[in-house]
Amino acid sequence: MSDNNNKIIIAIDGHSSCGKSTVAKEIAQKLNYIFIDTGAMYRAVTLYCLRHNLIDNGIVNIPELKNKLDQIKVYFRLNPETQHNDIWLIGENVEQEIRLLAVSNNVSPVAAVAEVRHRLVALQQEMGKSKGIVMDGRDIGTVVFPEAELKIFMTAQPDVRAQRRFDELTLKGESVSYEEIRANIIERDRYDETRKESPLRKADDAIVLDNSFMTRDEQLKWVLSRIAEI
Ligand code: DC
Repeated sequence: MSDNNNKIIIAIDGHSSCGKSTVAKEIAQKLNYIFIDTGAMYRAVTLYCLRHNLIDNGIVNIPELKNKLDQIKVYFRLNPETQHNDIWLIGENVEQEIRLLAVSNNVSPVAAVAEVRHRLVALQQEMGKSKGIVMDGRDIGTVVFPEAELKIFMTAQPDVRAQRRFDELTLKGESVSYEEIRANIIERDRYDETRKESPLRKADDAIVLDNSFMTRDEQLKWVLSRIAEI
């Protein structure tokens, strides 16, 4: 029996800024699985749109974006210093830049474009075809891997999420206000949940993890217990 037969797919979906990637990364490390942050892929395409004036006031120039899609190469590469899979956009490491608030403020309309989603979903499915993967996003358990062995839907109270994201960005030296962050989180959730194409929703067979009052360690233990139950 090959090793892959024991490996599973873990899909982590949920609301913005509730720590999905942190949990997913830790689980992947623990299990020696690949970790894929699909939000980084949508953010990289958004960064391209911002740099090429394909988005203005939240309105995406969809025909032009469709024309450019073949050129927008988005992929992950292992960073030997951090051992993290960084996101690259056409030959450039954009791992840091995609986290800026300007990208967060524009990512939802880009992620709602059907052609963008189809392309990125196909890449994600390819990455997970050998299993042994922890992938986080909004549509992993519903669209990308509806057959995933473990599906988790993560959430936390908006105020808690806003405070965590505010602390993270100010620590990095970005000048942002708590209110601005909170508004962005609430608006992104609203947009992601109501878009036509693959809206954010809990898969029927996903288990909910509300981490509002949980430490990182408690979350990790919680997920490992769910894995042990499989
Ligand atoms: O996980 P994140 O906050 O970095 O994701 C950025 C945005 O990308 C999020 O607001 C919605 C979108 N997204 C998506 O539509 N589908 C995914 N699988 C991942 C992210």
